[in-house]
Amino acid sequence: MDAFIIQGPAKLAGKVRISGSKNAALPLLFTSLLFDEPVTYENVPRLWDIETTLSLMKSMGTESEWDKEGGKIVVHPKVTSRVAPYEWVKKMRAGILALGPLVAKFGEAQVSLPGGCAIGARPVNFHLDALQKLGAQVEVAEGYVRAKVPTRLLGTRIRFPEVTVTGTENLLIVALSAEGETILENAAREPEVVALGNLLISLGAKIEGLGTSTIHIQGGRLKAPRQAITIPPDRIETGTWIAIALATRQQLELEQCQAGEMKAVLDVFRAIGAGFEISSAGDRIVVLPRDKYNAVDVETQPYPGFATDMQAQVMALLCLASGKSRIRETIFENRFMHVAELRRLGAQIEIDGNNAIVTGPIDLQAAPMMATDLRASASLVVAALAAKGATRISRIYHLDRGYQRLDEKLRRLGAEITRVAE
Ligand code: EPU
Repeated sequence: MDAFIIQGPAKLAGKVRISGSKNAALPLLFTSLLFDEPVTYENVPRLWDIETTLSLMKSMGTESEWDKEGGKIVVHPKVTSRVAPYEWVKKMRAGILALGPLVAKFGEAQVSLPGGCAIGARPVNFHLDALQKLGAQVEVAEGYVRAKVPTRLLGTRIRFPEVTVTGTENLLIVALSAEGETILENAAREPEVVALGNLLISLGAKIEGLGTSTIHIQGGRLKAPRQAITIPPDRIETGTWIAIALATRQQLELEQCQAGEMKAVLDVFRAIGAGFEISSAGDRIVVLPRDKYNAVDVETQPYPGFATDMQAQVMALLCLASGKSRIRETIFENRFMHVAELRRLGAQIEIDGNNAIVTGPIDLQAAPMMATDLRASASLVVAALAAKGATRISRIYHLDRGYQRLDEKLRRLGAEITRVAE
């Protein structure tokens, strides 16, 4: 296991190139299981979750080649086993994304139930109920979801009880294999869902309503992708870099991003006091920090609301803002694991149910900390870069799951950050 040692307060300057999006890449990679021909991907981020996805697909018979420096993956889809084993799904909950393509293509699948995780119980019952509504037989036994299509699936109206991102992604794919029209209500509107839907449309699918909460999908066949599939920029990495620039009060330029997908997050940063110069295409953001920041009230919501995946990083920044901020987490029941760690740097944060009250401004002081999950780790990095002294952050493997070489990118900007084995 690795740890970071970060010397703060960091002096940073320069440009950061934003990598491809983890949460867009995962469903797009699993989609390759639908085809018989090789599928090529570009702008793939170099992350543990991508490694896990390729290992999981390999365990099912699908080989792939990954040019890690060039960000290119070629998948050779071949499914000899329709089982997504616990060994891999326990490492990455998004392994549940194997369910949709396997059911759509082979009419059966056995996918390990993801366990709980640091941020909440995270069940997959909405995925399973929706499959059943289309006519699949679904049972959960011995820790596995077993789904089977008896004769055929029939399109129908499905309303998700709550917005589910990977549930919507799985259903977009399964509905293509059903006869007639499926209508998904209360569907996720996240840009990653839109990216998947647009790929399917480019391959011949008839899908309407992407980016809205009602999606109409006509059953039908897809043609294999002839061109490389480009992974779009990571909006959460972009937001994390904005938090870093603001917390260290250093101007940074972010390249290859997509500001158009980040309205709610940018609005929160603006309310805190940030300034932005954004290119007309939205692919370049210059972050303009301030000496003094304002306390704000923030509530996480499904897209287009403020992303739960940005909550921890914004909380670290709010420790530096004047006054009392209130952060309400509405998506996951246990996503405040970073609070106890931030307190070790001197942060004043009270938790009341799903509300965190942050009082600032605080001069953060270095202390040893431990990463607990992906976005919590990012928030500890934001805080450590702003804190005075050398902070050690243990269990950085959580960060490597979802941020491409954050330490190398930081070092290039001038940060004193070292990765040590522990
Ligand atoms: N939920 C259920 N039953 C279900 C599905 C979801 O109760 O069958 C609940 C969840 O427990 C949660 C809420 O509904 O309370 C929303 O969960 P959702 O299904 O939308 O989450 P997800 O699809 O598992 C994706 C991202 C997460 C991100 C969430 C919310 C991927 C691979 N993961 O997870 O990303 O936080 O949507 O936006 O796309 C991360 O990148 O750090 C991360 C956790």
